Amino acid sequence: MEEFSDERLARLTGMLKRRGVILPAFEIHGGAAGLYDFGPVGGRLRNRVNQTWVDHWQSLGNVVEISCPTVTPYSVLEASGHVGEFSDFLTECKGCGAPSRADHLVEEFHPNAESLSRDELTSLIKTHNPPCPSCSDSSWGPVEAQNLMFNTKIGAGASGRQAFLRPETAQGMFTSFTSIYRHFRERLPFGAIQTGKGYRNEISPRQGMIRLREFNMAELEYFIDPEVEPNHDFSIWTDNVMLISEESGEIKTTFGEAVTAGIIRHPTVGYFMAWTMDFLGKVGINPKHLRFRQHESDEMAHYAQDCWDAEILGSYGWVECVGIAHRGCYDLSAHEEATGQKLRAWRTFPEPKLVEIDGWTIDGAKAGPAFRSLAGRVKEIVEGLPADSTFPLSLDIDGQSVEVLSEHVKRVQRSENVNGEWFVPHVVEPAFGIDRIIWHLLDHCYVETEKSGESYTLLSLPELVSPVDVTVLPLFEKDGMGDLAQKIHRDLCGRRNVFSSYDASGSIGRRYARADEIGVPWCITVDHESLVDGSVTLRSRDSGEQTRVLISDLPF
Ligand code: ATP
Ligand code: GLY
Repeated sequence: MEEFSDERLARLTGMLKRRGVILPAFEIHGGAAGLYDFGPVGGRLRNRVNQTWVDHWQSLGNVVEISCPTVTPYSVLEASGHVGEFSDFLTECKGCGAPSRADHLVEEFHPNAESLSRDELTSLIKTHNPPCPSCSDSSWGPVEAQNLMFNTKIGAGASGRQAFLRPETAQGMFTSFTSIYRHFRERLPFGAIQTGKGYRNEISPRQGMIRLREFNMAELEYFIDPEVEPNHDFSIWTDNVMLISEESGEIKTTFGEAVTAGIIRHPTVGYFMAWTMDFLGKVGINPKHLRFRQHESDEMAHYAQDCWDAEILGSYGWVECVGIAHRGCYDLSAHEEATGQKLRAWRTFPEPKLVEIDGWTIDGAKAGPAFRSLAGRVKEIVEGLPADSTFPLSLDIDGQSVEVLSEHVKRVQRSENVNGEWFVPHVVEPAFGIDRIIWHLLDHCYVETEKSGESYTLLSLPELVSPVDVTVLPLFEKDGMGDLAQKIHRDLCGRRNVFSSYDASGSIGRRYARADEIGVPWCITVDHESLVDGSVTLRSRDSGEQTRVLISDLPF
């Protein structure tokens, strides 16, 4: 079991930098706070964790991967509420001018400082006079809300449109709803996943990979009909998990029981918490260091109805690494309202229903000539509008702009037998911070031990995410051993999903140690015998066991 300590943390970060796993970006220019590189070893690790994430969620069977731009027009993030709401409270040190997050300054004086209002934070800072992390002065300026999005422009000069770098990948999934709905033949439930960069101009980046300004996100937006009771099978998750909820405090229970007891408020949220736990286990997170914490009502993001964080214990204490939120119909409704586009799904009633219609239809005599071939589409949209709609109304139909004037429409009140209705789907979203997960799996898999009286470290990474699958080592680079080892190495590199490295520097013992340090699960050693009988030594990182196998029988 890992013993987390500042000394171990320093040794681990030193190793990660030295071996090209994670290192500060742009260091030769003095670096930039909150920006990190995944180096020659880390790049592959990140790639494998991402791919494992994609495969994990795609195995639900009704999930599709998409990819949307990171540069996002102002109007999208205004509609989503990020322009108005996506901020943290900042205060500046009067001594050195360094900005700090107000809630971080007082977190030791309040169990949930993140949820405090500006006035509450101001008063706590006044009472406790926390020292500035940069200069230790303790006089602070006013507490102000600071939006976290990076500004940019689409296009140059005066005609350039204001935009932001996306703070989450989610909005692309909402604005693409219609095409995803069509892809799934208009049948809920279904999900869209996306991995990619997210950007937040954090006030005070800290704790290495934990608070970055550009980071790797992986999100699933799962669209459901709120009137259909999901039928998830929780029976395979029989182990107790640690839950911390608003009403029940800290409890150990199974996901199924927590859903039945209403502690987890929606079954799909519970189901995705279980899937999240399974994913984290697959990539190397120690399940003993995992817990789920429910957001308190005043802590929840502006879009959320219920939210659970998967928190992982590591060298920085408990850290939120995944947020699983029930976003209700917030986002699709917000984009509908802002654009006038229908972002809905069709629900068929078991039996036709007689309903009172109070709404709109088109006035055929005027709308027919005005809209010609689009008249049918305009009618469909107008009849789906609520009674309080106002005209003129601008529509975009397959890229064509249409202006519906009040003379084109008529108010209607009638009873009609209908066989279904349009509704705004609800969304359950697991949102993963890949960098925080990678940090924690490294933290959990880093083993410090002793070998022949000397300290020895290894990364016991699961094979699924190991940056290198196998290292090929010629005992010596002479008598043809180097050539044979190179041949095996290149042959392995050409195989699907196999990544091999070649190492001929230093003693065999040192080379095994180098491979162990970055978590390579297998080493192949080519020696004199290999030249005679085509066999090599296969060494396992975890057991240290060495077996002789024929090159043609290598298990890769
Ligand atoms: P925090 O409270 O730590 O700022 P958050 O509640 O703002 O995080 P979310 O908005 O729920 O985080 O983002 C989803 C996930 O993205 C988080 O669980 C986390 O893993 C990751 N994440 C968020 N902000 C950062 C960041 N600045 N650096 C690295 N990862 C981040
Ligand atoms: N998409 C969830 C979040 O970024 O908070």
